[in-house]
Amino acid sequence: MKILITGATGLIGSELVKLLLSKNHSVHYLTTSNAKIKEEPNYKGFYWNPQEGKIDERCIEGVDVIIHLAGANIAQRWTNKYKQEIIESRTLSSELLFNLIKKSPNQVKQIVSASGTAIYPESISQVYDETTTESEDSFLSNVVKKWEESVDTFQVLGIKVCKLRTGIVLSNKGGALPEMVKPINLGFGGAMGTGKQIQSWIHITDLVAMYYFAIEKQLEGIFNAVSPHPVSNQELTKVIAKTLKKPLWLPNIPEFVMNLILGEMSYLLFSSKNLSSIKITNSGFQFQFPKIDKAINDLYA
Ligand SMILES: NC(=O)c1ccc[n+]([C@@H]2O[C@H](COP(=O)([O-])OP(=O)(O)OC[C@H]3O[C@@H](n4cnc5c(N)ncnc54)[C@H](OP(=O)(O)O)[C@@H]3O)[C@@H](O)[C@H]2O)c1
Repeated sequence: MKILITGATGLIGSELVKLLLSKNHSVHYLTTSNAKIKEEPNYKGFYWNPQEGKIDERCIEGVDVIIHLAGANIAQRWTNKYKQEIIESRTLSSELLFNLIKKSPNQVKQIVSASGTAIYPESISQVYDETTTESEDSFLSNVVKKWEESVDTFQVLGIKVCKLRTGIVLSNKGGALPEMVKPINLGFGGAMGTGKQIQSWIHITDLVAMYYFAIEKQLEGIFNAVSPHPVSNQELTKVIAKTLKKPLWLPNIPEFVMNLILGEMSYLLFSSKNLSSIKITNSGFQFQFPKIDKAINDLYA
């Protein structure tokens, strides 16, 4: 199969590319950086700039499936200008791909897109699944709604649309986990706020396997890409400290302190999303790392 990936150079994309190449698939990818363009036998980069509406149209030649991961990183201060970039990097990129497919001969059958869990209501005890129609009114929730709407448009072209609402991705190469590990390693670690907020997480190996599963099974619809066992922030902090063999002696870090440091973005630390993974497991997907202790142990022991 030939797969076109956007955001292939990022944390998730780079692991996914490794998996696809190991299974002898051919990868085209779109990048906003000329310096990241490579041309290897099964791995070929193409330039695009969604903000300027530019795309190298050869990227779509022979492509069966699109995996859409591109998006400005949400872990940077949310100024008004950057908020706009967070939204547009996701929606304008979908639009640019849509317009290309609409006008060019192609054989694209499916698009699998990253999506987020921010769309779900805040909850500690209530578990939400993909059927919920309730949603939260926050900046990030609105980003997810616009992002998913932009991907849904591909259905009018007869293309199957699959959206993976992804929880906190656990990797030792980037994302949230190394930021949590750093202070604990230095002896300054502590849970955030009450520590009771639920974190729906997924090991990067499982997430990448889920993308592969989605294209192999030609899945359609929304799937929560979260492990079957979400944990509280307190529990996650404890498991990290235990794995690193570090004491946790400081009190929890108050929410107002993180608000002062991070501004609105502190939402990422205190929001509570308790999500079900039953839909994907009922589809036949098996997690390699369903429990947090094994996941952290794999990454940091
Ligand atoms: N990591 C997580 O915990 C997590 C959780 C839920 C959802 N997600 C979502 O999954 C997707 C991939 O996540 P990731 O962790 O791999 O992200 P990442 O490491 O930040 O990589 C995202 C990629 O998107 C491209 N990009 C950045 N800014 C862009 C812009 N303004 N316009 C177009 N492309 C841009 C970049 O590729 P080039 O430099 O090659 O253009 C970058 O490598 C993201 O959309 C993210 O929101 C991630």
